[in-house]
Amino acid sequence: MQTFLTPNSLEIALTQRYATKRFDSSKTIPKDTWVALESSLVNAPSSYGIQPWKFIVVTHEALKKQLQPVCYNQPQVIEASHFIIFASKTNLSHQDIDRLVDRIAFVRKVAKENLLDYKNMMYGSLDRQTEDERKNWNSRQCYIALGQFMLAASLLGIDTCPMEGIVSSEVDQILGLREIGYTSVVACAAGYRSSQDATAVLAKVRFRKEEVVISK
Ligand SMILES: Cc1cc2nc3c(=O)[nH]c(=O)nc-3n(C[C@H](O)[C@H](O)[C@H](O)COP(=O)(O)O)c2cc1C
Repeated sequence: MQTFLTPNSLEIALTQRYATKRFDSSKTIPKDTWVALESSLVNAPSSYGIQPWKFIVVTHEALKKQLQPVCYNQPQVIEASHFIIFASKTNLSHQDIDRLVDRIAFVRKVAKENLLDYKNMMYGSLDRQTEDERKNWNSRQCYIALGQFMLAASLLGIDTCPMEGIVSSEVDQILGLREIGYTSVVACAAGYRSSQDATAVLAKVRFRKEEVVISK
């Protein structure tokens, strides 16, 4: 594997990230930077590689304005350059597994028959889940993408704010997510911090490493 960073530069990226409360609405993420960030979403890992998600990227002012009231009027929704909604599949089924198997066969140029064991294993795993377990499982996958996205953003000097403060049912309605079988889980605003953001200068509060990491 190639290395791109030093431990020190990674530490800077990790600690310069903070949940940005106020963005500078005059600044837009450049196209090439956004393309790389989009790649952090598309390439996010998921259980079995099932990718039970859609990432809705909102940049249009009118739509941001529509979404803000159903996100507890948080200013990040309209001030950030990009507002991303992480949505999970509501009704994951054998069809989704078949679609994945088709894709693996195509990308890796292998016969579908060779993937039968893998397919049946995934069927079994899905069938054993209750509806609630499946819903939680799908949501968890979205959080993995969210984490990867925020770190990627920080590495590229882009500020973010992860946001659970959304009214999922209302967001779903505005974005027409229910119709396509998805539901919003979490959101993330991305852009550039405003010089007026008072939280930018606050020290990061974390428990001491010794309290969090158990080394054995
Ligand atoms: C899943 C999740 C949901 C969050 N939801 C919101 C939110 O709706 N609005 C907000 O301003 N901050 C939100 N935050 C930001 C947290 O409050 C913040 O990450 C935490 O206080 C730690 O601060 P730091 O990220 O600046 O280090 C959320 C964070 C996470 C991880």
